[in-house]
Amino acid sequence: MRKTCTLAREVLEFIEPYLKPGISTLEVDKLCHDYIVEKGAYPSPLNYHGFPKSICSSLNDVICHGIPSEKDILKDGDLLNLDITTYLNKFHGDTNKTFLIGDVSPENKKLVDVTYQCLRAGIDVVRPGAHIGDIGAVIQEIAHREGYTVVEEYCGHGIGREFHEEPQVVHVGVKGTGPMIKEGMTFTIEPMINIGERHCKVLGDGWTVLTKDGKNSAQFEHTILVTKDGYEILTLRQEEKAQL
Ligand code: MF3
Ligand code: CO
Ligand code: CO
Repeated sequence: MRKTCTLAREVLEFIEPYLKPGISTLEVDKLCHDYIVEKGAYPSPLNYHGFPKSICSSLNDVICHGIPSEKDILKDGDLLNLDITTYLNKFHGDTNKTFLIGDVSPENKKLVDVTYQCLRAGIDVVRPGAHIGDIGAVIQEIAHREGYTVVEEYCGHGIGREFHEEPQVVHVGVKGTGPMIKEGMTFTIEPMINIGERHCKVLGDGWTVLTKDGKNSAQFEHTILVTKDGYEILTLRQEEKAQL
């Protein structure tokens, strides 16, 4: 799990310098695909339940599962989430980040900042004996305090030999409820936070999830290992290590 998760977060680090106005999300997909394959791994999304590309690229009002396309050209002020999942030595590692493209409005920057805070606060309650509901409870509290809403239809998940395993990690909840967290578990936390209402719709392509009201959404995701007395963030990037 450490190896595949390190590779997944390296893809986010590798791709960042390319994310400039003018590049298409299809070109981004190709660069990530080649990087993953060169390292001897497989991009888990490719052909997963028929998903057609190697990464998910979700722009602005796309909440998640955006399909890379030559028609989606990055422009100044965009919010771009790239969700990378790698399959290496029979294990999956899953992580995503919302990137700010060029000059982003203060309103959108705040959304991205708060979404990251939600992820970190959710991670911070992880320890043996805590409950999965504790994670959603703190995420919901922060998001609502800042005037945002939390997407409920898509959630974090156990991960390991399979891409999506039990338990479901919902990003809203009540403290003390849900499955108990145990040492050795690996799961993702991946809150999707909206500026407007929480409701979503799925495009005719069967994948792209958008906000119903057309307002922006942001997301961050890490894969977490539950340790004896807390957690290890298996997909922690260098930039995040430097902040600690
Ligand atoms: N990586 C996503 C997650 O965090 C799942 C993408 S499924 C795909 O769970 F098929 F769209 F790739
Ligand atoms: Co995930
Ligand atoms: Co993911």
